[in-house]
Amino acid sequence: MKNVTMSGQKISVRSKIKSAFDIYQAHKSKIFSDAKSAVSYHKDLVKYLQVYTGLEPRNARILDVGCGQTATQTLLFHADGAKVTGIDIEVPTYKMSPSLFFKVIKLNGIERALKSLSRHILFDKNFFIELSREYGKEVSFEKVDIRIMDAKSLAFDPSCFDLIFSTTVFEHIDDVPAAVKEIDRVLKPSGAAVIFVHLFPSISGGHCLEWIFPDKFSSSEVPPWDHLRDNKYPANAYMNRLTISRYREIFRSNVEIIKEETVRDGERFLSKELELELNKNGFSKEDLLTRSVTFFIRKKRNVN
Ligand SMILES: C[S@@+](CC[C@H](N)C(=O)[O-])C[C@H]1O[C@@H](n2cnc3c(N)ncnc32)[C@H](O)[C@@H]1O
Repeated sequence: MKNVTMSGQKISVRSKIKSAFDIYQAHKSKIFSDAKSAVSYHKDLVKYLQVYTGLEPRNARILDVGCGQTATQTLLFHADGAKVTGIDIEVPTYKMSPSLFFKVIKLNGIERALKSLSRHILFDKNFFIELSREYGKEVSFEKVDIRIMDAKSLAFDPSCFDLIFSTTVFEHIDDVPAAVKEIDRVLKPSGAAVIFVHLFPSISGGHCLEWIFPDKFSSSEVPPWDHLRDNKYPANAYMNRLTISRYREIFRSNVEIIKEETVRDGERFLSKELELELNKNGFSKEDLLTRSVTFFIRKKRNVN
């Protein structure tokens, strides 16, 4: 099975430089590396664990699918005393060393290695200090279990996790049915999974950072929904382009959906003309205005 990593899309050098600059600005202005929202989201995940499994983190086996470069939620569950594993298709770089830097070059290319090194030097130290302070517990890298692995092929025994969560990862997976089947396989019958998807057809779904929070700030340069139109400002990331209805079909045919939560945004930028243009391209109003969906799922129960 081929592995599609985040930097799978071919874009011009100019777009890559712009993207690197936008990411730098996003870290600086705390759109990324925001300890406060990371802790708030972590509290939500702990609540989901308690509500859906009746367990506390210290008694739970947890999997973070696509934990990201800083593996933030894996580290917070580790600080809670949970038996947590974070997996990611790219080399997580919450720590950096010369040997790790060369490993990133070898596995994910020089571009990813340079981005990780820059983020590490410029932002990580402060971010982890703030994260510990904000959470009121020390966030430590000691003995944390983080592995390089593809969500489509999980190297775990069947039925071993109480909680599986994945945040803004599924939109980057090239074979979503394979990933859902793997989550179903490794989830305990008493367990639950929480899958948060940033939807591609939404106004921010093209991952253009100038449109990332359209209700807070907007771009005068990049047209809204550019990624569904001329795509003049492509993002430096692979995206599978699935709609919410396709996700629903995939989840329904493999697992039981307990609950679904959606968040909408960007309504004031959708003129009638634009809506018609994008409808012709196959996107409904719901597609265009639904920013994200969270699927709360468990294994299908046997009816007999
Ligand atoms: C936008 S980041 C989100 C990281 C983290 N979940 C967070 O909320 O900060 C998406 C992550 O998904 C990872 N990813 C993409 N495809 C993957 C796959 N097939 N298997 C595992 N991880 C994957 C990427 O490498 C990247 O670290």
